[in-house]
Formats: sequence, structure tokens, C-alpha cells
Amino acid sequence: MKLPFIFAKRFVAGETFEQTINKVKDLNQKKIKVSLDLLGENVTDRKVADETVAAYIDLVKGIEENGLDSTISIKLTMLGLDIDRDYCRDNLFKLLSVAKANKRFVRIDMEGSPYTQVSVEMYKEALAKFGSKVVGLVLQAYLKRTEVDVNELAKLGGDIRICKGAYKEPAEIAIKEMPEIRKAYLRYAKHLIDNTAYPRIATHDDELIDAVLAYTKEKNISKDRFEFQMLYGLRQNTCEKLAAEGYNVRVYVPYGTMWLPYFTRRLAERKENIFFVLTAMFKG
Ligand code: FDA
Repeated sequence: MKLPFIFAKRFVAGETFEQTINKVKDLNQKKIKVSLDLLGENVTDRKVADETVAAYIDLVKGIEENGLDSTISIKLTMLGLDIDRDYCRDNLFKLLSVAKANKRFVRIDMEGSPYTQVSVEMYKEALAKFGSKVVGLVLQAYLKRTEVDVNELAKLGGDIRICKGAYKEPAEIAIKEMPEIRKAYLRYAKHLIDNTAYPRIATHDDELIDAVLAYTKEKNISKDRFEFQMLYGLRQNTCEKLAAEGYNVRVYVPYGTMWLPYFTRRLAERKENIFFVLTAMFKG
């Protein structure tokens, strides 16, 4: 049974690109940049993966045609990573070629830990071929291996979005306690600020936002050297406040019909999100 979209609308901008355009324009008018994500993951059918590549390419062009200030975020399992690695790489490179020709940036989201190693490896190949102005990767602070990945990718000049991590991972490979995740996050955020051109600080957590603001002020790092990123439907006031203060802010705007896994992760993350969903439903 498919849940009606009304459940998801607090966190998902629309089921089609057309329904999403005005929401992106509203954010852009408030000096907030966007990263559009056509939702979906774990595609096992080549036809669907081929259609997804075409849809991402259309999206790159649609952003241009509608004058939106937006990058795109993608998932490698949407490009056929579960089908065949070489096929996925070909699809990724096809998309990146179009993005490069259109001067658009593509962010590779990080999925669950079975995909971490292959995502890092594929990102390194993509970075070498297309450069950090075209492609970036996400790293998750809760993974113990991230210490090594942050260092290596910073040295290679990667464009990194650092987040806490949204998947259920075993204690052998992931930090489980929130204070420890925060400590790791802040260590990586500082490393990226010190060692990369333009790090992306993705969190809604005031403790981390305040710590990054304090660190960049203390080190005299200008506001245009990094950006904060938040998810659509969360902390809009904070985004607007930071943007009004001159910080770069980008909102991750998901859309599409395959919203259930994304929506479920948001509900699992914070019990207050369930309340947000109910409020949005009753507002109609
Ligand atoms: P978290 O949910 O841990 O909350 C911490 C504290 O922040 C709360 O106790 C509260 O004080 C405050 N807070 C949080 N939300 C609030 C709200 N709505 N209102 C008021 N206070 C609030 N994950 C992944 O695995 N792969 C990926 O590629 C990405 N990509 C990504 C992009 C972007 C732009 C973002 C913001 C996040 C991701 N994530 C992700 C998700 C990420 O890993 C993580 O699960 C969520 O951001 C939740 O962690 P936070 O640090 O945001 O706050």
C-alpha cells in the first residue's frame, strides 16, 4: 500500500519537479541556495536506472531553464550501483559530463555502510576526472573510518559535506553515543574548514552550528569560505537568520514519488519530526 503524499509533504517538496520549482524560488529569494534531490534508492532494474540518469540530466537542464540557484544531490544506488559497479560509474560519468557542460555541481550522498568504500573509491575517480567544482561527496561523522576518509579526501582537494549519518549501523563500525558523534563531527568540520576550499556543514544541531560559528570567527575565516546545509522542512528560521547574517546556507530539497525511505529516516531521527508531520497534515 502506498501512503498518500500528504504524510510526506513536511519533508518532501513535491512529487514532481514542476511542483517543486516555486518552493526552490521562495528559498532562493531569501538568499538560500538549494540542492535538489530526485528521491529514490536501491534501483535493481537497468531500465529504471537508465530512466534515472535521463531524469537527473533533465533536472540539470531544468535548473538552468528555470533560473534556479541549485545543485543536485544523487545516490549511487539510484544510478545502478546494486546492478553493476562499472555500469554505475558509466552512468555517473555521463551525468557529470552534462553537469560540467552546464556548470552545475553534483553531490553524491552517502548511503549505508555497505556502500561507503565503493562510494569513496568512485568519488576519487570522479574527482580526478571532473574536479571539485563539478562533484562532491558526503562523509558521515558516526562512522569510525571517517577519520581516515576526511584526511585523505581533504588532501585530494575533495568537496565534502559532513553530516552525522542517518542509517542504522552496528557498533563495530559506528559511534553510537550522541556526545561522541558530536565530538567527531566537530573535529572533522574543523579539519575540513582548515584544509579544504569550501566545506559544507550539514546539521540542524545548534551545538554544532554555534561551535562552527565560534571556530570560524576565532580563526578569522570569512563567511564565504564555507556553507551551512539543512534539510527541507527543518529549521527554516535558522536558515533564514544565518542567510540574513551573511552566511552561505543551502537547503537540501527532496522531491519525487519514491519518498518513503527518506521520509522514514527523518521520522526515525527525531521524535519531534512525527509531530511536524501530523501538524502539516492537519494544516491541509
Ligand atoms: P539531530 O537530529 O541529531 O538533532 C540534534 C539537535 O539539534 C536536537 O537535539 C535539537 O537540539 C537540534 N535540532 C535538530 N532538528 C531540529 C529542529 N527541526 N528544530 C529545532 N531543533 C532541532 N545522512 C546520511 O547518512 N547521508 C547523507 O548523504 C546525508 N545528507 C544530508 C544532507 C543535509 C543537507 C543534511 C542536513 C543532513 C544529511 N544527512 C545525511 C542526515 C544527517 O546524517 C542526520 O541524520 C541529520 O542531519 C540529523 O542530524 P542533525 O545533526 O541535523 O541533528
